[in-house]
Amino acid sequence: MSKFKAIVINQEGENFTKEIKEIDLSFLKEEEVTVKIDYSSLNYKDGMILKNGGKLVKDYPHIPGIDFAGTVEHSSDPKFAVGDKVILTGWRVGEVYYGGYSQYAKVKSKFLVKAPAGVSSKDAMALGTAGFTALLCAFAIQARETILLGEPIKDVLVTGATGGVGSVAVMALSKMGYNVTAITGKKEHTEFLKKIGASTIIDRAEMDQDSKPLEPALWDGVVDTVGGKILARALAQTRPNGIVAACGLASSFKLDTTVMPFIIRGVKLWGIDSVMCSEKRRQFVWSQVKQLIDFDKLHEVTQVWSLADLVKSSSNILKGEISGRVVIDVNK
Ligand SMILES: NC(=O)c1ccc[n+]([C@@H]2O[C@H](COP(=O)([O-])OP(=O)(O)OC[C@H]3O[C@@H](n4cnc5c(N)ncnc54)[C@H](OP(=O)(O)O)[C@@H]3O)[C@@H](O)[C@H]2O)c1
Repeated sequence: MSKFKAIVINQEGENFTKEIKEIDLSFLKEEEVTVKIDYSSLNYKDGMILKNGGKLVKDYPHIPGIDFAGTVEHSSDPKFAVGDKVILTGWRVGEVYYGGYSQYAKVKSKFLVKAPAGVSSKDAMALGTAGFTALLCAFAIQARETILLGEPIKDVLVTGATGGVGSVAVMALSKMGYNVTAITGKKEHTEFLKKIGASTIIDRAEMDQDSKPLEPALWDGVVDTVGGKILARALAQTRPNGIVAACGLASSFKLDTTVMPFIIRGVKLWGIDSVMCSEKRRQFVWSQVKQLIDFDKLHEVTQVWSLADLVKSSSNILKGEISGRVVIDVNK
């Protein structure tokens, strides 16, 4: 096949466009591995890029999509054979390199992870970048047990809980055996959150307030996807030696806090970056997904969109209107 379909974004002067185009395989820059893509997914960063490039895309025209899963069609690296099922998240694909909202991609072989046995392309993208990040956060919290020589973790908090990262974090942390409290702005999604493993739900408005330097200590671990006042308050409510894994800014990129949680309670603020995470770490995380994710449940909270649906509705993710995950069937 020399022609294929992709979303192409372009910026000419003030005019930003996104459309589905039929393009030639020669449009893709030569790289070690050619992948025929089955699925991509919608992440917060994709929403920003599809809106106006999100200050992340510098060269136009551009194919967005920060993750994908598919099948190797050609490889100059013996690590991958034709027919291998592969997954890509991060590495600035979809920003600096052409991305996954496309039926084909050509990428560096080090960007790819082999799909674990029993994990389909659709499963992989139901997780996608958001789910992969949620698992990095969950493992950061679990590390407290090792750091404290076996002291168990009981109570964990997840913010932005109905979102992509939040909902997978709720699932994985409850599978790890922790008691999960979810913060959400969508009270009507209480049942959804309980179904995926949350035991207690807190209204976001209660938490989105100025915080005292230290508040009653409630959490052994926190996964924060929103930043701002909610993250500051979560830090003030974390128990001695608790770990707060911060990965997002859905509320704000600002953090106005004090040193008190760190010097009085030994709280650890652990930043999570899924983009440039090492190959070894990626392989480890993907090797654990079968144990930590109930894929039947995950698919129940995942919508499947076409490229056309994405062109029409990508901005919903920036408004916090999407619950669970959105998988993109690039061949629909
Ligand atoms: N560091 C990394 O490597 C990495 C990787 C992936 C994502 N991220 C970041 O993680 C964040 C979440 O990504 P996502 O894909 O899960 O996005 P998402 O699906 O849109 O989820 C974000 C959730 O945050 C909550 N929220 C939205 N607006 C808010 C506001 N103004 N104040 C407080 N809460 C708000 C909503 O949940 P409720 O309605 O349930 O409250 C929303 O569903 C984003 O900032 C993204 O950029 C970082």
